[in-house]
Amino acid sequence: MGTIAVTGAASGICQALADRLKRDGHDVIGIDVQPTDIVADLGTPEGRKHAAVAVAERSHGRLDGLVSGAALGPYCEPDPILRVNYFGALQILDDLKPLLERGREPAAVAISSIGAIYADILPEQSVPAALDACLRGDETAALAAIAGHDGNAAYCVAKRGLALKVRAHAQTWGDAGIRLNAICPGRIATPMLDGIYDTPGMAEAVKAMPIPLGRSAPPEEMASVIAFLLGPDARYVHGAILHADGGSDCLLRPNAL
Ligand SMILES: NC(=O)c1ccc[n+]([C@@H]2O[C@H](COP(=O)([O-])OP(=O)(O)OC[C@H]3O[C@@H](n4cnc5c(N)ncnc54)[C@H](O)[C@@H]3O)[C@@H](O)[C@H]2O)c1
Repeated sequence: MGTIAVTGAASGICQALADRLKRDGHDVIGIDVQPTDIVADLGTPEGRKHAAVAVAERSHGRLDGLVSGAALGPYCEPDPILRVNYFGALQILDDLKPLLERGREPAAVAISSIGAIYADILPEQSVPAALDACLRGDETAALAAIAGHDGNAAYCVAKRGLALKVRAHAQTWGDAGIRLNAICPGRIATPMLDGIYDTPGMAEAVKAMPIPLGRSAPPEEMASVIAFLLGPDARYVHGAILHADGGSDCLLRPNAL
């Protein structure tokens, strides 16, 4: 049993994950802008720093697992989406890496999205300048590049950037003895999906997304995938982007591996 920090733990997938991990006997440290163990706004440098310091205190400087899942939905404004879903999501991984280095068989999971693949199928809606700035770590340039685009474009940039960074970190995190993977959920029944369904234009597109399994998933079905990636059964899984989307990626990008 270990100590596992989970961002976004106040709602949806990460709340289900926190419940699952507690049932499995782990100590869970929730981080969220809504009430939970540590309240922090991961969209700001101060909030990110507060989260890292507070987790270090509560965990006594040692973590066995970390899940970076806090995010805003694609119906929000583009600036906060990039700040939270990319820069905040990545910073917490970087800041807590030293704590994971002291953990037992440590593992981390970043929650990306099926939105990460959209630049492959709708390149005209991608924003390469914003993605490049994200990958360079230049938050100011990324925000400038996303200006004039909508929240959905920012969401797809952030989630693609996050998944690419997980792959880019494979060597350094592997050297440090920490497994790092990402999942790309498809359509999951959470408050975020409710927000999408409440947004005209977005609701129709998401409802029309092809899903070979023919249904959305409850958040518990993502929690079990993340729990697997955190645990010993995934001991040789590292740098993977796991599509947990009922098969949607197979239809949207049949030739991608
Ligand atoms: N629901 C889906 O269909 C779906 C699909 C693909 C990916 N995802 C991803 O799964 C993860 C969980 O999403 P969910 O569907 O459970 O959404 P959710 O809205 O239920 O939960 C997101 C959580 O992130 C927190 N959060 C938002 N802004 C924050 C900030 N600035 N600082 C700290 N915490 C903040 C929220 O308060 C909330 O508790 C997200 O990364 C999301 O992008 C969800």
